[in-house]
Amino acid sequence: MLFTGPSFPRHSVAALFAAAALCSTVGACSSSSSGTAPRTAPGAAAGGVTPLGDPAIPDRQAAQFPEQWRLKTGAGATFAAQVMAVSNSPAASAAAAQIMKDGGNAVDAAVALGFALAVTWPEAGNIGGGGYTIVRLADGRTAALDYREVAPLAATRNMYLDANGKLTDKSVYGHLASGVPGAVAGLTALLERYGTMKLAAVMKPAIALARDGFVVDTALSGSIERASKTLLRFQSNSPFTPNRKPLAAGARLVQPDLARTLQAIADQGPKAFYASWIADSLVAEMQRGGGIITKADLAAYTPVWRAPIRTSYRGYALLSMPPSSSGGVTMAEAMNVLEQYPTLPAYGSTRWFHLFGSAYQRAFIDRNAKLADPAFVPVPLAQLTSKNYAAKLRTTINDTRATPTRDLDAAMTQAAREPEHTTHYSVVDAHGNAVATTTTLNNSWGSSVWVRGAGFMLNDEMDDFAAQPGKPNMYGLVQGESNAIQPGKRMLSAMSPTIVLDPKDQVLLVVGAAGGPTIITGTSQVILNVIEHRMTLGDAMRAPRVHHQALPDSLTFEAGGIRPAVLDSLRGFGHAMRELRSLVNVNAIMRVKGGWEGLPEPRRSGGAIGY
Ligand code: DON
Repeated sequence: MLFTGPSFPRHSVAALFAAAALCSTVGACSSSSSGTAPRTAPGAAAGGVTPLGDPAIPDRQAAQFPEQWRLKTGAGATFAAQVMAVSNSPAASAAAAQIMKDGGNAVDAAVALGFALAVTWPEAGNIGGGGYTIVRLADGRTAALDYREVAPLAATRNMYLDANGKLTDKSVYGHLASGVPGAVAGLTALLERYGTMKLAAVMKPAIALARDGFVVDTALSGSIERASKTLLRFQSNSPFTPNRKPLAAGARLVQPDLARTLQAIADQGPKAFYASWIADSLVAEMQRGGGIITKADLAAYTPVWRAPIRTSYRGYALLSMPPSSSGGVTMAEAMNVLEQYPTLPAYGSTRWFHLFGSAYQRAFIDRNAKLADPAFVPVPLAQLTSKNYAAKLRTTINDTRATPTRDLDAAMTQAAREPEHTTHYSVVDAHGNAVATTTTLNNSWGSSVWVRGAGFMLNDEMDDFAAQPGKPNMYGLVQGESNAIQPGKRMLSAMSPTIVLDPKDQVLLVVGAAGGPTIITGTSQVILNVIEHRMTLGDAMRAPRVHHQALPDSLTFEAGGIRPAVLDSLRGFGHAMRELRSLVNVNAIMRVKGGWEGLPEPRRSGGAIGY
């Protein structure tokens, strides 16, 4: 389970070397793991770009964290005057910065970053999975691209149940776990519509990293080590486990098969993936392991352009992902509930955690029952995101008492009756174009199946369906009929790539996360910490996090993140408190005076690189 993992040393020597090589050509860039990289001088911009305006937000306030919390307040982020790219891989962030240095816009850079991540962060960066992107261009245009996987045409509602009707682990591991991949179709569609460079040019860094290799850092070696047993269950010859041993930190990871695959995509576009020898390799891999994806599935795959969910929070605008992801709707619903309170309690107080948890508990009840692929199920978007509905939900929250999820069903039905391992990256350019992308194989390393001959990992996204409605999935989400398996349907996601605009309609935050359902609460908390608690980006990201997803009916918190007296009070309110070491992997960029700050997840690894 990804959000329980340990925190790793920030960057590996290897990734930093790769990043440093690109940085030396990019210029004043820095890759950060501790968020204390030096500031470059504001205004040191090249290329005659007009500096962007400063953000229209109140001054920041000092945050206070509990004494026992392992991350400190006041630590910074990486500053750059013009452009910034933040991801879980310094080398991939550096590739994006280089593309912008070469004249590309944020979309060109994000596509370069996406393909590079498939090479340098293969536990989640991918071409065998799918994702979502939110774009906000400097001229005000916005777009949402859904390139989520779909259930294969031969998928059936009960395909993961055994003869006794019991749920198996086949939605998580092995060839049957994969949805039809959308990543290549998505990234290339994005470039075609909003990019300025050729596909071959933006894929160059990824191809070089796959072909020439890069030095494995401790974050990647730790990830391979943890997954190695399952990886070896499905193939013995992937480059991640040479001689059946996990690749160690300091070793060089060369991926010639992947390089060939990427080169073919660069030369021929998406049809290389969906209708040529790469498709043949994928289908051959399926046949080897009892999977059901066919060439007809691949040929039929299409990404979908959608209108972003646009919601407001105290004068700020949020642009986020509509269904087939639940991210934007669930965030909008919960934040609308919080907005009903004229002022919110201080960060870290009992009432803050109680109100936050209670708002998300309610939003997740709706999410789990009502949200799904809109091509298959009518989704009450307008109602769930309305301020009026939020006002009614707010009345179901007792200020000093948790409401058991089972008791909320009736109240929520009443309120609704009236009219109506994943990885995120953020990129901004000197013009103010912004891209937020979250992409995933689902679990770390997806289904653990590596496509022989084509060199990439396949997703286990089928587990995001309600494989047995009413029974929890890998993330403990209890989902309903609307998200049951149907051929050609997109499985409901929690991914929440989000762009926040300040009251003057300028980009303020570009943010999103990995971590299953905690993506929604984690992304929201960084946004609320900035808007509501007036924290700096550094503090907003380091602040201890909590999570509520209705069922299991508990308020999850990070070890050391809540003061003991507050914890006692929350228990007194009736919250079942559940402790985890770490919650959510967020990567964010924030507009600050004179430029941008970028910060990869302080609990994990990554790189913020700009100039
Ligand atoms: O789409 C979803 O909601 C999940 N497949 C995301 C999985 C995830 O975030 C795993 N992460 N670390």
